[in-house]
Amino acid sequence: MAASSRSFLLLPLLLLCSHLSLSSPPVPLAGELLGAARAPGFDAWLRGVRRRIHQWSELAFQEHRTSELVRAELDTIGVPYSWPVARTGVVATIVGGGGPVVALRADMDALPVHELVDWEYRSQESGKMHACGHDAHTTMLLGAAKLLQDRKGDLKGTVKLVFQPAEEGHGGAYYVLQEGVLDDVSAIFGMHVDPDLPVGVVSSRSGPFAATSARFLATVTGKGAHAAQPHEAIDPIVAASTAILSLQQIVAREIDPLQGAVVSITFVKGGAAYNVIPECVTFGGTLRSMTNEGLSYLMKRIKEIVEGQSAVHHCTASVDFMEDKMRPYPAVINDEGMYDHAKAVAQSLLGEENVKVAPQLMGAEDFGFYAQKMAGVFFNIGVSNESTLGAVHSTHSPYFVIDEDVLPIGAAFHAAVAIEYLKKHTST
Ligand code: NI
Repeated sequence: MAASSRSFLLLPLLLLCSHLSLSSPPVPLAGELLGAARAPGFDAWLRGVRRRIHQWSELAFQEHRTSELVRAELDTIGVPYSWPVARTGVVATIVGGGGPVVALRADMDALPVHELVDWEYRSQESGKMHACGHDAHTTMLLGAAKLLQDRKGDLKGTVKLVFQPAEEGHGGAYYVLQEGVLDDVSAIFGMHVDPDLPVGVVSSRSGPFAATSARFLATVTGKGAHAAQPHEAIDPIVAASTAILSLQQIVAREIDPLQGAVVSITFVKGGAAYNVIPECVTFGGTLRSMTNEGLSYLMKRIKEIVEGQSAVHHCTASVDFMEDKMRPYPAVINDEGMYDHAKAVAQSLLGEENVKVAPQLMGAEDFGFYAQKMAGVFFNIGVSNESTLGAVHSTHSPYFVIDEDVLPIGAAFHAAVAIEYLKKHTST
């Protein structure tokens, strides 16, 4: 009894505090958006769009049909867009009242994976598959376009919808930014499907979220000779072997154990005969860190170690990080304010119990390019449903499937993040 009378007395104060709280504002609109996206006609449209994109799986910078579909749907919805952006990309713009500009981003490219899922809408492109769920990302953003266009009169600013090419290894985000189409954007939100989370659950974290990543190709050159006369050779295989073993010491002995880092050698090529010492050996792999400074350190040390160990064995060496062709991805550093904002929207949309704190990932994501330039936040969105679909295969697996119930959730989440961001940040 005492507790309840105390609660009664505190009620006006609590109401005042919750009104003033900025960390978890109520977002009643989120539920309405989810209801609209789950309406039978809307939901069927989303599934249809996703299945068409899935069947037409296209690789990085080749997303021509996907881009065409996006533009056709935007035309139908009545949303203007810029195209081409970074070859196949599309940036749509929904202008509401005067105010800030917020961006929502989806990637459109598939992977060089041959689909092994036996279903009606499997990829029709041999050796190409949406095994990373970018078909769902594109669809959810189209869904958001429709929801936002229907509420355009209530928008307190402008929303840009970024349909980006070439996330898988080619850094499409970098090229989108180069074109200047997002120069007026103050904040950006993106999502990735996550087969480790059930549909209806999302996760993210403030600060460092996904690793920065680069690749390297090392070439060790010596002098070839008959294998029976090794003293006539300068053996690049021994030099490369020593270098590869020494590279293992960078993470083990030079990096703070509490700071994540990876150096993995993933291929070695040298020689073709049992009795010939080859002239050169090439090897390469990936390097990752949770900080951009950490990646720079790994690059410096890989070069030093490969060159130094080769010199010890009288070989010469070069290390190519291929920054011009396969640009290193910056770490995804989630902005604290944007994280709190999107988290509050997600809690309103899905319930507090369905918004989790995500672990840091050593995977890379070119969303990091956007997050370097503006306040960005990236979320995982659950797509697994073991009971009905067996949707538990990891991304990049030829058996990867998603629960399409994620589509209206993602569309509503995108739209609600944008609408509420503009409401909060409008100067009027
Ligand atoms: Ni992906």
